[in-house]
Amino acid sequence: MRTELPPAVATALAEARRIVVFTGAGMSAESGVPTFRDDLTGLWARFDAEQLATPEAFQADPDLVWGWYEWRRARVRRAAPNAGHLAVAELETRVPGTVVITQNVDDLHERAGSRAPVHLHGSLFAPRCTGAAAHPADVPDPGADPGEGGRLTPPGCAQCGAPVRPGVVWFGEALPRAALTTAIDAASDCDVLLTVGTSGMVYPAAEIPRIAMLTGATVIQVNPDPTPLDAVCAANLRGTAAQVLPALVAAAQR
Ligand code: OAD
Repeated sequence: MRTELPPAVATALAEARRIVVFTGAGMSAESGVPTFRDDLTGLWARFDAEQLATPEAFQADPDLVWGWYEWRRARVRRAAPNAGHLAVAELETRVPGTVVITQNVDDLHERAGSRAPVHLHGSLFAPRCTGAAAHPADVPDPGADPGEGGRLTPPGCAQCGAPVRPGVVWFGEALPRAALTTAIDAASDCDVLLTVGTSGMVYPAAEIPRIAMLTGATVIQVNPDPTPLDAVCAANLRGTAAQVLPALVAAAQR
């Protein structure tokens, strides 16, 4: 399918030297990774993602929460980057001043060839120790897939024996400081920001497109549905990441 771009969007991209690509779960939807605000399916249907993604849930039932993340990690391992991820990597080649900022905990940007995506919400592939030092922990990769709805006891840290936890940001936790600083700096100093596949409902990440708009960038949204970010965007392209991003990237300078 060919996407016609509004002329102002094509011009902004053709002239841009510093571009931020800000992505959410919709970026990976066409790779078969469910978004957050989709209802959970199958055996997970009786749980709410926002309730599983908390320190309290892990404390109350570590096997349930570790099982959920290990099931998601196994699913991401089986997924492949889609045309949207590949287009983002191509954009980095065309416009070297491109910074990719993602809320996603998968590794599909990396596997598509993106150089150094900034992970605001951590990664499924960076588990860490729950002990005082909170250092990175090794877990088997690939791990045991507990299957949908499956429970799995978190392994003990090889150094101190404390349970290992997913290396993701949970609700109520602070974002990694270096990632947030990089994201704010890039958003404050870009010509164009593409916000792709995010509901724009989770803060502080949802501030990133607003910061770009307030500092004079052209903010372009790719999402099949309206979001609270519509109001900050100069253009709202109602399509999917895999459909729309290749056309946007083709409009960027070489
Ligand atoms: P959401 O699940 O909240 O939103 C996904 C967005 O993607 C929605 O606006 C959909 O309309 C859109 N979408 C769906 N399919 C798409 C496609 N093929 N192409 C483009 N857009 C599509 O996911 P996020 O906004 O990423 O945080 O959620 C933000 C954060 O909330 C997540 O990082 C996670 C979650 O709870 C933490 O775990 C801390």
